[in-house]
Amino acid sequence: MLKSIAIMTSGGDSPGMNAAVRAVTRTALHAGVKVWGIYGGYHGLLDEEMFEMTSKSVSDIIQRGGTFLGTARCKRFTTPEGRQLGYKNLVDRGIQGLVVVGGDGSLRGASALSAETGMPIVGLPGTIDNDVWGSDYTIGCDTAANTIIDAINKLRDTASAHRRVIVLEVMGRNSGWLAMTTGISGGAEYILVPEEEYDMDEICADMKESYERGKRYILVVVAEGAGKGFDISQQIVERTGLDTRVSKLGHIQRGGSPSVIDRVRASQLGENAALAIISGLSDIVFGFDRGHVVSINLHDAVNNKKKLNPELMRLAKVLA
Ligand code: F6P
Repeated sequence: MLKSIAIMTSGGDSPGMNAAVRAVTRTALHAGVKVWGIYGGYHGLLDEEMFEMTSKSVSDIIQRGGTFLGTARCKRFTTPEGRQLGYKNLVDRGIQGLVVVGGDGSLRGASALSAETGMPIVGLPGTIDNDVWGSDYTIGCDTAANTIIDAINKLRDTASAHRRVIVLEVMGRNSGWLAMTTGISGGAEYILVPEEEYDMDEICADMKESYERGKRYILVVVAEGAGKGFDISQQIVERTGLDTRVSKLGHIQRGGSPSVIDRVRASQLGENAALAIISGLSDIVFGFDRGHVVSINLHDAVNNKKKLNPELMRLAKVLA
């Protein structure tokens, strides 16, 4: 059994990361294991921004968005030299295992660190994008989706009042999960995702026809990876002449107090991660599969691309 572990959050922050850190910390402390917090993701690991945590270090954080440990996207850690330095900084403190909470880029860094140095690593999927292979859930995706749906509800009011087309751009560089789930639950007419090709000529012709049939307004949700909201809106204006406006939600969708689902699931994942790492397991990511916690091979998680559920893509078209 390991005697000392460290935890960090990395990549884009997501609501619920704090609940995960809290669960890892308290589970490990309860088992008599020392816990180090690394501040600022891999940057903090390289710059030795690490501190020993107590149970109190993680009190009053479960309700907070963001991550109290801070986070970063770190270029230096993408090199073998950077990872060797990270390894040395862990070993110098007697740290025997690392828990990384982050998205696919962060988990890729963790996988390389483990492969090159033998440092035991357990990952937790923390990203609003819900794009980590092997898990149907990532920490923060539920809160982000709820923030987006709140925006969609508001946009609907004004779209309907003015008989406008509203284009809403949401996050998802490589993944359409946020756009697809919020588009379906927000009743959007068109949902554009990076996983699926779309034809603006066809969409615009369809829009014109819908207006001619008496449709009052149209909502388009576009994932950033499928196109820029401003470009799409411009194309709609040019091809249809319809009164069109665009909103880009931006980083608002990454913040805010985590939902109940994100808090509970992050806590469950955190407990599993702590128990696994202290018992000497490595190279796994804990995620969810149909409501149950599952462990996924870290190498598989970072080397496979998660697919968008085809059932959701089909449903979106049926309901539009
Ligand atoms: O990786 C998560 C994510 O939310 C992406 O959907 C988005 O493209 C990106 O973060 C934005 O990152 P940053 O905060 O570094 O601009």
